[in-house]
Amino acid sequence: MKFCSVLFVCLGNICRSPTAQAVFEKRIAEHGLEDLFKIDSCGTGSWHIGKMPDSRAIEAAEKRGYSLRHIRGRKMQTKDFDNFDYFIAMDRENLKEIERLLPENFCGNVALFSSFIKDSKLVDVPDPYYGGERGFDEVIDLIELGVSGFLKSTLSD
Ligand code: 4NP
Repeated sequence: MKFCSVLFVCLGNICRSPTAQAVFEKRIAEHGLEDLFKIDSCGTGSWHIGKMPDSRAIEAAEKRGYSLRHIRGRKMQTKDFDNFDYFIAMDRENLKEIERLLPENFCGNVALFSSFIKDSKLVDVPDPYYGGERGFDEVIDLIELGVSGFLKSTLSD
């Protein structure tokens, strides 16, 4: 397998994409594959640049053994298209924004996160920001499934 760089993209970069980043980082470390992956996350919005992830996301992740505390909010930039092979959007709005900025010569992959969740009818990973705490746990369930599917698909390439 060749080196693979992955950018998870959501709206605020404080709930879903940092959670996906942390879950994927842990899975990669468990498999001893750190040298094969670069992993990062960003938002399409600029509200939370430089901020810690949402405290509810941090807590929900820590209950499941993941740390988000090293992650700071950042906004997607056009130079990200030079630095990442995979852009993985948490929902269709994020996907639209990636496609809006996509350079014509980009030869990487752009995908919806849900496309890596086997047998799922789900299209968008729901945004837990305005919901209750249960939303954050459900997001982690979905993210664990999608991260497994994504890892399988990249390892079989
Ligand atoms: P995320 O959730 O996209 O999963 O990080 C959100 C966080 C903040 C906002 C929206 C969504 N916001 O509007 O501030």
